[in-house]
Amino acid sequence: MSPASPAVPDSSPTPPDDFRTAAHAAADLVADYLAGLPGRPVWQPMGPADRTSLLEAPLPEDGVPLAGLLDFVGTRVMPAPMGNGNPRFFGWVNSAPAPAGVLATLAASAMNPSSAGGDHADVHLERAVVRWIAELVGFPHPAGGGLLTSGTSMATIVCLAAARNRAARRAGWDVREDGLAGMPPLVAYATGETHSCVRKAAELLGLGSKHLRTVPSGPEGQLDTDALRAAVARDRADGLLPFLVVASAGTVGTGAVDAFDPIADLCAEQELWLHVDGAYGAFGVLDPAIAHRYAGLERADSLALDPHKWLGVPVDCGCALVRDTDELRGTFSLVPSYLRDEAAGSLGWFSEYGMEQTRPFRSLKVWATIAHRGRQGISDDIARCTALARRLGELVEADPELELLAPVQTSIVAFRHRAAGLDEAAVNAVNRELPVAVQLRGRVFVTGALLGGREMLRACLLNAATTEDDLELLLAEVRAAAAGLTERPAGA
Ligand SMILES: Cc1ncc(COP(=O)(O)O)c(C=O)c1O
Repeated sequence: MSPASPAVPDSSPTPPDDFRTAAHAAADLVADYLAGLPGRPVWQPMGPADRTSLLEAPLPEDGVPLAGLLDFVGTRVMPAPMGNGNPRFFGWVNSAPAPAGVLATLAASAMNPSSAGGDHADVHLERAVVRWIAELVGFPHPAGGGLLTSGTSMATIVCLAAARNRAARRAGWDVREDGLAGMPPLVAYATGETHSCVRKAAELLGLGSKHLRTVPSGPEGQLDTDALRAAVARDRADGLLPFLVVASAGTVGTGAVDAFDPIADLCAEQELWLHVDGAYGAFGVLDPAIAHRYAGLERADSLALDPHKWLGVPVDCGCALVRDTDELRGTFSLVPSYLRDEAAGSLGWFSEYGMEQTRPFRSLKVWATIAHRGRQGISDDIARCTALARRLGELVEADPELELLAPVQTSIVAFRHRAAGLDEAAVNAVNRELPVAVQLRGRVFVTGALLGGREMLRACLLNAATTEDDLELLLAEVRAAAAGLTERPAGA
């Protein structure tokens, strides 16, 4: 006789009424947080004690009631935000969360599906919102031609993997079966301003970063197609396999948009896959004032873009769009027997189109964000951001202490401080320290980058709640922080 198993312990689920009470309190906490953002410092460093209390938080032995969790979140977590909800945040490419998306996040996590596939609302909603995203930016969308991802870094891996497989197959190799070993190297082309996620993807996909050629760009940051043509010819003559061009619909440094039509012409002629990184800037096409810059975007083979940037969909949410569905599915589809699903329909599962198996319910926050504003509302917000950026560019140009470093093409303004009498090295040194000096003052938040060897500030405008007064304040803060740096005794 086998021994009796120990008794199954009682379960102690959270009582529904406790959840309801806490959820109401959470709604107030979040609403107060969002309403209070403009009135608080944009960012401030966490005090050492607060930091330590998070870093060294002990693993709780016994549970805490929901109300206690809210107290911790309200008093210890929410007072130390990154700052990107504030209209005076101009850093990196991080937007304020769209309120409709915030609400949707609660419902999505209450349902908590895995959007890998199957026949449930989240899966069908994802197909709809991927099509909406494609329609918003004017990219062709065959059924199954895309999926939501964690961000553009992952979307880039998805798109470049499809590009790699197509190129290898055309050269007589099955990369999925044989790997890349023994094949002539595949070569990709991008400008020096291309986001680092492209290089990461190239490395990860076994292409090797030395086979990601840096193509020069012209004075406005656009990829130089004559140089591209010459580089492709050189590589072919050397027995290599050019296969991919990465263009940008808004570079992270200056917001430059490539001239897609000539690049697409060259790609068609040379049988190269054209991928566009539209992470930050693809939605700029919705602004009638700059839509012309995007002519030819729709000719790309793939486009990676981020609803979690300019649309304000709460992080995380990227999107990969691929013109040829078969290339995408052919790259990723692998259906083990435990996942066979006769009811999935001809498109199969999302997990056949990308890396993730268990996938979060991202589509509800995208749906809510787009449905709440509508195409017109989104276009208006984007047009306001680009107009603010142009205004900021004018303010910079009118200020003798400041220098605009690139034309304002989308909603990023690249500039630097240039105090009279400083040589280039000293100007660089000041601008290197300036972003943090501005941040520490707490009134605005801006970040920096290198552009052609020059240290600069870059202000990224993604928040339609930003005002022209906020722009004046940004420049006043830059001037004040620069004065603190240039007037301080040497070595201090
Ligand atoms: C132009 C550009 N491409 C790619 C990325 C990477 O996107 P993600 O952070 O969503 O992975 C960024 C992020 O800022 C970006 O600005």
